[in-house]
Amino acid sequence: MSNKPSEPEFETVTYMDLFKKIKRLRLIEPSLGIIGFFFVTVCVIFGFVYLDYRAVTKGLRFSTQSERLLWLKFYGSREIKKVEFLSEKGNGCDVFEGDWVWDESYPLYQSRDCRFLDDGFKCSENGRPDLFYTKWRWQPKDCNLPRFDAKMMLEKLRNKRLVFVGDSIGRNQWESILCMLSSAVSNKDAIYEVNGSPITKHKGFLVFKFLEYNCTVEYFRAPFLVLQSRPPPGTPSKIKTTLKLDQMDWSSSKWRDADVLVFNTGHWWNYEKTIRGGCYFQEGAEVKMKMKVDSAYRKSIETVVDWIHRQVNHSKTQVFFRTYAPVHFRGGDWRSGGHCHLETLPELGASLVPSHTWNRYSILMDVISAHTNISDAKSLDVLNVTHMTSRRKDGHSSLYYLGPKVGPASLHKQDCSHWCLPGVPDAWNELLYALFLKHEATRSWNSI
Ligand SMILES: *[C@@H]1O[C@H](CO)[C@@H](O)[C@H](O)[C@H]1NC(C)=O
Ligand SMILES: *[C@@H]1O[C@H](CO)[C@@H](O)[C@H](O)[C@H]1NC(C)=O
Ligand SMILES: *[C@@H]1O[C@H](CO)[C@@H](O)[C@H](O)[C@H]1NC(C)=O
Ligand SMILES: *[C@@H]1O[C@H](CO)[C@@H](O)[C@H](O)[C@H]1NC(C)=O
Repeated sequence: MSNKPSEPEFETVTYMDLFKKIKRLRLIEPSLGIIGFFFVTVCVIFGFVYLDYRAVTKGLRFSTQSERLLWLKFYGSREIKKVEFLSEKGNGCDVFEGDWVWDESYPLYQSRDCRFLDDGFKCSENGRPDLFYTKWRWQPKDCNLPRFDAKMMLEKLRNKRLVFVGDSIGRNQWESILCMLSSAVSNKDAIYEVNGSPITKHKGFLVFKFLEYNCTVEYFRAPFLVLQSRPPPGTPSKIKTTLKLDQMDWSSSKWRDADVLVFNTGHWWNYEKTIRGGCYFQEGAEVKMKMKVDSAYRKSIETVVDWIHRQVNHSKTQVFFRTYAPVHFRGGDWRSGGHCHLETLPELGASLVPSHTWNRYSILMDVISAHTNISDAKSLDVLNVTHMTSRRKDGHSSLYYLGPKVGPASLHKQDCSHWCLPGVPDAWNELLYALFLKHEATRSWNSI
């Protein structure tokens, strides 16, 4: 919960302005971008020296180094004096509104120090040359987030279960938090998968135990959240499976009693991953041959939100729903040579993401707000990450998802859906951490 150091933020403002200028000059070519970046860095450094020199010659004498630092601090913090989100003054701050700021103290961990990453996310080790994408911190507009403290989080999770349920982007976020938390545990043997399973792509579920804290951090693969199973007897043979829009995934009984639940879905709700593969939608006993993916998605979210309201014990379980994380394919999609490998900087202004992003986002938000009223407003926290994430076209695995031995993929087979780690999902988890602590704090104020 330490205060943010103000120096990096002061630098950040300057960097941001200069980045905008670079963008205006359209230095999008990556090598030029990198040269531009170093040029900017040099300018910033010389800028400081020069300003300092001028200040001295104008008679504003700074006799010691420390006074000069004070001066920098003063100007640094004056612009960004913000309340702490976890303080009472931070109540009501919308932590999802803000900016990505450059922060030299990031990333929070190194991928080579984390055993829990699968090859798809270890971009640096798979040959990604730039590291800029690891250096951005999310800064809310009206308050400061607590700095992530893995020990604190583990302490709060003592004897508890933290469970992620959803698609592979959820696994991306789960692996991120495993890395973030394990950075505070020196004896790595004290963290293990309870069934001895390795981290692989298509495992049904994985449960990692942090022995010293008797807590588990779990992932259940349920890309639709609702139940996918065999069709009713006597249906046409083109129907291979159905999604039962009114029933939760089979694994729900395993995580209903978790202490913290983090849901996500969206990336499988499209024609290709459903109807084209013979997976139709079912309500009750009836297979709805004509139902569109959007309506089915809405129904499934209604089922999940309703389940959260009815089946989850809200005195015990804190529920989060992470909103859709946009993809950033340019010049095609994942099948047709879409790419993102030249992206090394975030979008600082408005972002260009496919329209289905906002469709997925608003259906979820609609359903949640329709189910939320004053009496049970606290039953569900939304991790409203879609907007902030839409600006991070630079954060994807792109060509670097095949493992260190294989090396970069071919240019027309890019992954612009998943995220490099360390990277963007760490920021979602810092927000999760902040909301989790806020909830704990509110709970203890109420119980006094
Ligand atoms: C989600 O965050 C965006 C900004 O990032 C904001 O404009 C929007 O109102 C938020 N939505 C909700 C429901 O909080
Ligand atoms: C460990 O945590 C589980 C819940 O995840 C709890 O049921 C059990 O009692 C805890 N064990 C000890 C020794 O506290
Ligand atoms: C809900 O959880 C609380 C806290 O763990 C527990 O005391 C209570 O008995 C639970 N209620 C039900 C209906 O299980
Ligand atoms: C509001 O909450 C009450 C009690 O939890 C519930 O019965 C009611 O249906 C809810 N209203 C809406 C509009 O969801």
